[in-house]
Amino acid sequence: MNDLIDVKAGLLETLRLPRPDGNGLTTEALAAAVSCDRALIVRAVNELAEHGYRIERTRDRWRLVSTPDIPFAFEFPGRRERIHYFPRISSTMDQARETARGGCADMTVIIAGAQTRGRGRMERIWASEDGGLYFTLIIKPQAHPAEAIKFNFLAALSLVTVLREECRIDARVKWPNDIMVDNGKLSGMLSEMDATGDVIHFINIGIGINVNNDPALVEPRAVSLRSLTGRVYSRTRILGLFLDRFEAGLQSEPDFADVITRWKKYAGSLNREVTVVTLKEKLTGFAEDVDDRGALILRLADGTTRTVCYGDCFYR
Ligand code: BTN
Repeated sequence: MNDLIDVKAGLLETLRLPRPDGNGLTTEALAAAVSCDRALIVRAVNELAEHGYRIERTRDRWRLVSTPDIPFAFEFPGRRERIHYFPRISSTMDQARETARGGCADMTVIIAGAQTRGRGRMERIWASEDGGLYFTLIIKPQAHPAEAIKFNFLAALSLVTVLREECRIDARVKWPNDIMVDNGKLSGMLSEMDATGDVIHFINIGIGINVNNDPALVEPRAVSLRSLTGRVYSRTRILGLFLDRFEAGLQSEPDFADVITRWKKYAGSLNREVTVVTLKEKLTGFAEDVDDRGALILRLADGTTRTVCYGDCFYR
């Protein structure tokens, strides 16, 4: 093993293995475990220290004392080549489009520590300061463009499940793909597709999750995992769990109706009065259902129904 990124990954994996004696490992033992020479181990240790990992050496033995919560590629075994982390960029959507157009593997992920021009739906700004998790997942499904929205619903379903299980919060999906806890927005999703005729070239699903940041400073109705629970969460872990769950969902080749049915189980925006703002109008009514194309069915005050394909939904 000679690639430094592989050495760093192997080193971390080895140092994280529980050791009954509580002792660390010598450089020789690490080199043997990671299958490289001692010089490379020392280089990898130095680079990890520069990245913020605390690796201490006592009596010739190395121990990992602490890990920064930064989603470096080497923290994602099996995905390393497809993870691209940027401490600060304009928007992961812009970078993902460029990466996808240049040619990249399915399930490539562009992650930002912070974004200077984070974008939301309906031409909004997505405040993206340090502490949140901001990423765009590039997928290349063999599906018809008319089916593309299924992948957004699958992403929202995967994320709400991870957040509920991992953080023990009552997270719910709000049509189309926000994640809410009560009336506070925890996460938003923005997607872009590139297709020609019947062929999808790529779909970029951009997700912003308020994790350890304080979004209420700029958006009073927003909440973060930290503001809700008082705990600090690992963005790296949340992203890894989300990617595993989303990929498992893709591999089970779900039909759309099945994804929507499972999504509805966690829907907070159905069977209640809502206001929906579209690019052209504002509609108020009772959110009756989401149809099998992912559109919201609203019953208006005059008893008629309207099917809304794109918009923002607000609770009343
Ligand atoms: C919304 O609720 O309006 C959607 C917000 C989407 C924000 C994410 S953060 C990662 C990706 N990069 C962006 O610029 N936007 C999305």
